[in-house]
Amino acid sequence: MSEKKIIKVAVVGCGNIGKRHIAVLDANPDVKIEAICDTNEEVCQKLGALYKLNCYTDYSHMLDAIDIDMVSIATPHGLHAEQTIQALEHGYHVLVEKPMALRTEDCERMIAKAQEADRKVFVVKQNRYNKPIALTKEAIDSKRLGQIFMVQCNVMWNRHQGYYNDSAWRGVKALEGGALHTQVSHFIDLMIWWFGDVVSATTQIDTKNHDIEIEDCGVTAIRFSSGVIGSIFWTTCVYNKNYEGSITVIAENGTIKIGGKYLNEIDTWDVQSYPLPEGITFEDKPNDYGKYQGTSSNHHRVIEGIVEQFATGRKGVVEGDEALKTIRAIEMIYDSVRDAQKMQHQGS
Ligand SMILES: NC(=O)c1ccc[n+]([C@@H]2O[C@H](COP(=O)([O-])OP(=O)(O)OC[C@H]3O[C@@H](n4cnc5c(N)ncnc54)[C@H](O)[C@@H]3O)[C@@H](O)[C@H]2O)c1
Repeated sequence: MSEKKIIKVAVVGCGNIGKRHIAVLDANPDVKIEAICDTNEEVCQKLGALYKLNCYTDYSHMLDAIDIDMVSIATPHGLHAEQTIQALEHGYHVLVEKPMALRTEDCERMIAKAQEADRKVFVVKQNRYNKPIALTKEAIDSKRLGQIFMVQCNVMWNRHQGYYNDSAWRGVKALEGGALHTQVSHFIDLMIWWFGDVVSATTQIDTKNHDIEIEDCGVTAIRFSSGVIGSIFWTTCVYNKNYEGSITVIAENGTIKIGGKYLNEIDTWDVQSYPLPEGITFEDKPNDYGKYQGTSSNHHRVIEGIVEQFATGRKGVVEGDEALKTIRAIEMIYDSVRDAQKMQHQGS
């Protein structure tokens, strides 16, 4: 990993975000896409023609047929673990989309296999590169905020029933997990990055306005290992369009609210002796999928980080051991719903 060489990559999953993976990998001069794979042949062929790439509809077949350095996985959540393990067994590094997998035990198997194969599992956490996020991380790490007391995270978005109906996996528990895996995992990752592991949770969830197997509303009170306490309020039920994606930090020496709809703006920055630099602009764009929008499109920064890491050995991109913490937190949050239900039954 010491000298810069072209990284040969294959992409599996050519849907909303797979297209973005292909675009940013194609645009990076240190990367070459060798092949793409999607079970939807039409989607795959269309992209293959556009980028002049070999197309496969069978993932195992593609892995056997090509010789690459890394597989980029952008398929439904329930497939991440097995597809990662398969790629590692072929001796390939992996970049897997969030969430790393559905369960902690899946992440642990992925990490164990990566160690055994002496390969990397990178996980896409592109929001860490957003300017408001990086500024907040700097304010926390430099201790300018003093003691941090509380954090409030709101993910108040709109997803129409068609978003679920048009998809083979969205809203299906075994493939999606829950809304925390899809809409909220970036937010949880950031809070763990700032405040440490989630160590306890008390949660309510419900499915109020969609015909799906997973929740569309939830609220949880959580505690982080650093002692910070907070709440996450999440829903895909907001009327008509996305309303807010925000994190508010309440600390001894300051208040910061990162807002906009996609953690791309600073709504409040009131930090003792540490004003925002004058003339600062916020240019992180959301991902636009046509019928809806999601968090930041900074995927190119993740790819640049991987290129850098392969060339210099300098770590910078989130790997499995760190991404696992988000899945463990999600599991703890959902488990606390079951615990609360059990107590309710026992009481009645
Ligand atoms: N980082 C981000 O901000 C971000 C944004 C959007 C999606 N995502 C994540 O990316 C992943 C994909 O999401 P999406 O919105 O692109 O979904 P999508 O449904 O648009 O695309 C998934 C694609 O995978 C294909 N596929 C399904 N099973 C397959 C298999 N066995 N082999 C090969 N291809 C298969 C489907 O045909 C589809 O084209 C999810 O993990 C999602 O959470 C991340």
